[in-house]
Amino acid sequence: MSRLFHRGQILHFLGDPSQGAEESYEYFPDGGLLIDDGKVIAVDHASVLLSSLPRNTEIREHPSALLVPGFIDTHIHYPQMDIIGAHGEQLLEWLDKYVFPTEAQFGDFAHAQAVAKRFLAELLRNGTTTALVFGTVHPESVDAFFGEAEALNLRMIAGKVMMDRNAPEFLRDTAASSYTQSKALIERWHGKGRLRYAVTPRFAPTSTPEQLKAAGRLLREHPGVYLHTHMSENLNEIAWVEELFPHLDHYLHSYDDAGLLGRRSVFAHCVHLSEAEWQRMAETQSNIAFCPTSNLFLGSGLFPLAKAESCGVHAGLGTDIGAGTSFSLLETMDEAYKVQQLQGHSLTPFKSFYLATLGGARALDLEAQLGNFLPGKEADFLVLDLAATPLLKQRMAHCENLFETLFVLSTLGDDRCIRETWIMGDCKYQRDTAADCTMQH
Ligand code: GUN
Ligand code: FE
Repeated sequence: MSRLFHRGQILHFLGDPSQGAEESYEYFPDGGLLIDDGKVIAVDHASVLLSSLPRNTEIREHPSALLVPGFIDTHIHYPQMDIIGAHGEQLLEWLDKYVFPTEAQFGDFAHAQAVAKRFLAELLRNGTTTALVFGTVHPESVDAFFGEAEALNLRMIAGKVMMDRNAPEFLRDTAASSYTQSKALIERWHGKGRLRYAVTPRFAPTSTPEQLKAAGRLLREHPGVYLHTHMSENLNEIAWVEELFPHLDHYLHSYDDAGLLGRRSVFAHCVHLSEAEWQRMAETQSNIAFCPTSNLFLGSGLFPLAKAESCGVHAGLGTDIGAGTSFSLLETMDEAYKVQQLQGHSLTPFKSFYLATLGGARALDLEAQLGNFLPGKEADFLVLDLAATPLLKQRMAHCENLFETLFVLSTLGDDRCIRETWIMGDCKYQRDTAADCTMQH
């Protein structure tokens, strides 16, 4: 495969800007990114790399653009892409009225495959190169999703929903069947190419304690698989969990009891955690997906990012489509900023871009593979167009430093800013030729 030298403005993160890391990022105004065989060989000032470029290296120039690592979405539901913008409800009623009926269709492999194709095209169009993804209760939904992700050579983590109570009959499995089906999917997909499996109980209200224990057993029997669920999103949900698990101290205890916490566990939302829950999240190195557009859309609440920082709990950004309202992590950064403003904190654009890249990689325990341009990392990256719209172009012209440039980009940016999306060194989406991933395989 070809060796390519990409030249343009380049930004990547080496650490968390809010943890006082001296040099949390590197920015090269005229940078070079050398890629060979799908991996990063080097990143530096272009002048440094050009002097010793291997022979036969093709050079790509990226004018008025910023190259950044691919965005990582730490929580999204692919089967819900067609219910974005479902009016009028908060979490529990929204699930009954909109989510369950749409998820019922994913027992049909052909339907699941068609949606998965459109979903992945949409991710690439928005610059999302890796995601942690909910399927539905049907194993077919996961087979279809992974099949499409594999064809595009994407690093994706996904799993079948486990749900054995408080859901319509047609969407329920059992503790035993969810164990057997998940196990078969792990054996079929986990570690196949770039794919990884996540054991996925929907949330405590829809799993019996026996099913949560089966999830814990799957994790113990398959080291390296992930745990992906929801927690403490909505106050009625929390009250319901207290009723369903009266003997437990708090919501997180329902998962802890089953052995579901840890470095590869991702809990979406965590908007209303108690002090004891924060401490336990930190002790177990569990991770959070912060989903601002979803939390606002469903009226769930304001995620306290500063609290996660002070407790040392890793957080990434999640769109939470279909409760979330945009596939774009740029738009998600914009909403994250507003959610923090409402709590008296000003999220910096450095932190936002960190969360969408290295922060997401850390939350998904993928720092060895992704998140920045250190040598050896997988070459998933974006060419962000800094002149994507007349307004953006004009506004950018008045930015005096990188901080301002990034902040304006996160405030005004959306899918129009994604000029190109590269996966393992190959261009899989190019805005101006309107080529999308479905045309590439
Ligand atoms: N809690 C349980 N299921 C869901 C879901 O599908 N979406 C969101 N946002 N929260 C949930
Ligand atoms: Fe969700």
